[in-house]
Amino acid sequence: MNDVLILAIESSCDETAAAVVRSGREVLSNVISSQIAIHTQYGGVVPELASRKHIEKINPVIEEALEEAGVTLADITAVAVTYGPGLVGALLVGVAEAKAIAYARGLPLVGVHHIEGHVCANLIEHPDLAPPFLCLIVSGGHTHLAMMKDYGTFEILGRTRDDAAGEAFDKVARAIGLGYPGGPKIEKAAREGNPHAIEFPRGRVEGSPFDFSFSGMKSAVLNYLNQAKMTGQEICVEDVAASFQQAVIDVLTDRAVGAAKELKQDKLVIAGGVASNGALRQALADACQKEGIAFYYPSPIYCTDNAAMIGVAGYYHYQKGRQDGWDLNAVPGLKLGEQVRDPRI
Ligand code: KG4
Ligand code: ZN
Repeated sequence: MNDVLILAIESSCDETAAAVVRSGREVLSNVISSQIAIHTQYGGVVPELASRKHIEKINPVIEEALEEAGVTLADITAVAVTYGPGLVGALLVGVAEAKAIAYARGLPLVGVHHIEGHVCANLIEHPDLAPPFLCLIVSGGHTHLAMMKDYGTFEILGRTRDDAAGEAFDKVARAIGLGYPGGPKIEKAAREGNPHAIEFPRGRVEGSPFDFSFSGMKSAVLNYLNQAKMTGQEICVEDVAASFQQAVIDVLTDRAVGAAKELKQDKLVIAGGVASNGALRQALADACQKEGIAFYYPSPIYCTDNAAMIGVAGYYHYQKGRQDGWDLNAVPGLKLGEQVRDPRI
């Protein structure tokens, strides 16, 4: 088969991104325009501002991705785009753009689940990796333990009952005055702190061994801060960051490696923004090595939102003959493994 070149577009939250991916695994370009500087002023993502910025950036970002890859639209085989989950106004910009390009050029259109994209980011740098495998998905909106049974087919084993891991990082960062985006700031502060200075709870969900709960941990941090304020005790931000991060790492490692052992899986894959946390990667690598489990993680640039991962996931859908109609819409609450496709196609 000739090379399949996917033009991929991602605009689900605060990054406008485009990429060109060859035959599912080779990234020819990966352009990301981040809006972090804008949203930082407000302490979090402002949806309306995000949509407007996506509209401004989407064309230049796509042009740059094509140029960097050394191709034109005439070389592209199919257009893949994130259609959910995410902010509806942000998603709509990417979906409308992808539809316009695909329609104008007569190309197949492939809608991709954002979280499936995060998992597929692992396939870029690990040519030997193929489903089935167990994956731990930790992003700003999701915390899932899932089996990727085949390309596009997931079985959810466990999920968070409240906050997502990234959301907990963001909320705690705000509470200790580190600001947005919380994850990277907590990681940096934690390097200077003692992870055993404060004992935060490692929440378990009774009767659901693979589920997560982070709200108790977050509340414990808030209570600790309030208590310290009331008693005039000085707060060491680095110790709070390190102790909170350690509690999250312990829970994620325990649940993911526990699931791998119980389900007799010899591979563990991590995905999503929180997967770029160096201390988490090290803890999982150590625990997996001890148990003889092969551990896979993407480079940090492929952990946070990007379009290359959408191109990889889109390629496998295209290979299976799955494509979408011109009625493809943004689905902000799209569930993993759920396909919202026109039944006629
Ligand atoms: O996957 P992602 O870029 O966007 C979503 O799909 O949600 O994840 C963003 C989340 C944010 O909550 C951010 O604080 C967290 O990932 N994050 C991190 C790190 N880098 C990003 N959390 C912990 N440590 C990091 N180094
Ligand atoms: Zn994401």
